Amino acid sequence: MDVRVFKNAEEIGKAAAEIYAELLVKKPNAVLGLATGATPVPTYKNLIKMYEDGSISFKDVVTFNLDEYCGIDKNDKNSYYTFMHENLFSHVDIKEENINFLDGNAADYEAESRRYAEAIKAAGGIDLQLLGVGTNGHIAFNEPADEFTDEAFRVTLTQSTIDSNQKYFGDIPMPRYAMTMGIGSIMRSKKILLIATGEKKADAIKKMISGEVTPRVPCSILNNHADTIIMLDEAAAGLIK
Ligand code: GLP
Repeated sequence: MDVRVFKNAEEIGKAAAEIYAELLVKKPNAVLGLATGATPVPTYKNLIKMYEDGSISFKDVVTFNLDEYCGIDKNDKNSYYTFMHENLFSHVDIKEENINFLDGNAADYEAESRRYAEAIKAAGGIDLQLLGVGTNGHIAFNEPADEFTDEAFRVTLTQSTIDSNQKYFGDIPMPRYAMTMGIGSIMRSKKILLIATGEKKADAIKKMISGEVTPRVPCSILNNHADTIIMLDEAAAGLIK
């Protein structure tokens, strides 16, 4: 793991966008794995700036998002589909048909998981997967568990995730279930970039950096990935020596 510490979230946003830009210049039809949450917003802002100044284009890019809530419409203001359009897709030249999401309302979750796995394979695999991390160490919505998962599945969100994410829903109770890429699907990405900011992430980061790989701390699996960059601000890196 290549761990890099930055002053603040803005600096991470710039550096993470640079990694994306380098890939897009080399491979304009790259397959990008994208994440939601507050952490990647500065990265997306910088990517939009780079698109606006003509240094990158998304015209041939294909994207796969990590997860989506169950039980809300994809056009709901709180869906991850809407989040990605508001924070990135509507501002760049990506083609709608190249945007891929898990369907949180699929009638058959196992068939939906197979569909997603096949779509990723048909696209040639994910070149660069962006990850945030939950306060409990979750990646995508892979919550602490007894075993690592493989392909996408429907997950029951933990109370810790509900406590962390309820703020985005205001007074509306947030969904209790989501469809998420599994750990196996994330680990098959050619390159992974995990970003974490703020002291609430410091404990999960400390456990990940300790090197012990355990499904109780899902992000710890990244120790087994050959090409992972971790970008932290000083607060998220606060508990590492
Ligand atoms: C959600 C997402 C994760 C994300 C996490 C952290 O749970 N499913 O992919 O990493 O939130 O979010 P934030 O960046 O808002 O702290």
